[in-house]
Amino acid sequence: MPRLSREARHPVTIILNGKRASGYAEPRLLLVDFLRREIGATGSHVGCEHGVCGACTVRVDGKAVRSCLMYAVQADGRRVDTVEGLGDDSSDLTALQSAFRREHALQCGYCTPGVLMSISDFLERNPKPTETEIREMLSGHICRCTGYAGMVRAVLDVVSNGGAAESPKSE
Ligand code: FES
Ligand code: FES
Repeated sequence: MPRLSREARHPVTIILNGKRASGYAEPRLLLVDFLRREIGATGSHVGCEHGVCGACTVRVDGKAVRSCLMYAVQADGRRVDTVEGLGDDSSDLTALQSAFRREHALQCGYCTPGVLMSISDFLERNPKPTETEIREMLSGHICRCTGYAGMVRAVLDVVSNGGAAESPKSE
């Protein structure tokens, strides 16, 4: 898609994983494309582009949202958390990420960033979910690889160890 001139685009500033990030967005630019193309935060993936697969899930003001269903200009001034903000640095995984690794909850990893963001929001709202509730929540994500069993085990593991997924960093 050819870019519009800078004059036809709007300045957008978000708090991305606790740090201010700014760029320009034409009015129709999706938040996920703004994150990936304008800011360079490529952790959030694009799958279906119409709100079905969950690969693009990020948290906006703490709430898990499909970033392919939101325009970048709607995120202006808001807190956006992505998978890049979950660990403190590249060698420091959250309890949830460690459980994913331990339980083989990912294969190709394409769905994983969105799944992690949904689970982190879910566990903050419901720190002691049942297995049924976990399965229901995961049903909002399409994973072509894992069969979901590892993801369910990983979340149950985090829950039984009393470790909710860590909150994203704040500025
Ligand atoms: S890319 Fe957003 S839900 Fe599939
Ligand atoms: S791990 Fe490959 S799509 Fe989920």
